[in-house]
Amino acid sequence: MAEFGKEMRKQFILDDKTTFVNHSACGALPLVVFDHRNRLIREMEQVPDVWFRHKPEAIWSENIKAVAEFLGSKTSNLVFVPNTTTGINAVVRSLNLEPGDAILVTSWTYFTMKDTCHQVSKQHGVEVVYVDVPFPLRSNEQLIDAYEQMLSKHDNIRLVLLDLITSVPPVLFPLKELIAVSRKYEKLILVDGAHGPGHVPLNLEELGADFFTGNLYKWAFAPRGCAVLWIAERFHEKIFPPVTAYAFYGDGELWKNYLYQGHGDFTPFYTAARAIDFYRDIGGYERILSYCQPLVSEAANLLVRKLGTWHYPLPKEMQTSFMRLVALPKLSKYPPVIVPPNEVRRKIHNMLEINYDVWKRFGILCAFVSVENEAWIRICVSIYNELDDYEKLADAILTLVEEDKLQK
Ligand SMILES: Cc1ncc(COP(=O)(O)O)c(C=O)c1O
Repeated sequence: MAEFGKEMRKQFILDDKTTFVNHSACGALPLVVFDHRNRLIREMEQVPDVWFRHKPEAIWSENIKAVAEFLGSKTSNLVFVPNTTTGINAVVRSLNLEPGDAILVTSWTYFTMKDTCHQVSKQHGVEVVYVDVPFPLRSNEQLIDAYEQMLSKHDNIRLVLLDLITSVPPVLFPLKELIAVSRKYEKLILVDGAHGPGHVPLNLEELGADFFTGNLYKWAFAPRGCAVLWIAERFHEKIFPPVTAYAFYGDGELWKNYLYQGHGDFTPFYTAARAIDFYRDIGGYERILSYCQPLVSEAANLLVRKLGTWHYPLPKEMQTSFMRLVALPKLSKYPPVIVPPNEVRRKIHNMLEINYDVWKRFGILCAFVSVENEAWIRICVSIYNELDDYEKLADAILTLVEEDKLQK
């Protein structure tokens, strides 16, 4: 097996000319996984009727079994969905929330999830209650207290939407404790685990949530379109996907509600077992962690040193293993997005113009984002990255800084 870093990079389909330091957004595919999926697509296209009429059950079952083992789940509680957004929609829309009920989210809840809640709010008169995440966050306890305050104030909360890892800023939430506090108030618990599988060891049966959804295409090296939804047994007959399936439903077997939702390309689901094999073949979680975690700290320190800026303030216990945020020097051409005061329904503020320009001019794919009305660089580290990638990023930003000075 190839060494991590440049050697490993050759085993990915990523464009050779691009420096890729944004793995958590869309993921990146190892060639063996990409090739496996292509073989499935070819097989599907060669005998489409066979594929759709006779194949799905067996191939679904083989793949969901592998994922269930990977995530500490019973096979019977787990289904494939194309992405976390679909998983969240299945749950939030199936719960028959009524006028006067409320859903608890946070100011950092991913924007499409906020939108799902606000749509349900519009359709059914449901309230969306926000935990305004304190800035700076000083400890897990501070966040748990902020949740508890809202839970104790709002009796009408029925569903708590909890993050495992937020996207912007990237923060590891104290999920176990947040589940415990939500349980204390007898709420339903839905976990947005978009960044979880492959990033954090998981045991879905022991988590204590009612629902969990997360992507395999980010940190578990599966293709985009591959995610899972875990549903506690008592809800199997209550939660339905947004689209009906060809398989029968109503006989208590959860997977039948999700298998084959119209004719489409479900090969990302059926590539999951191959992706997990890859993950294990390269040494699994421990080896990935021991390479990526020190590198992400080194990379963030390098950026801070070279750019003369600072780290996003966050206690160590809330740092994610593979993602960091570093302040971007002031650039008049790329100001941060300013959010009006009292605007709790904040969206993720991708600074799309600088994201695109840095790729176009320097061949670097990185996320530039606004948080708390300041501009930040979000970096990720995966097994194909080296410190050199972040040197290039720092140099590109220094070029922008120099140009900015000349224009003044
Ligand atoms: C925290 C979080 N939740 C949900 C999502 C949505 O995931 P998807 O686009 O796969 O539905 C993302 C996307 O990156 C995310 O970062």
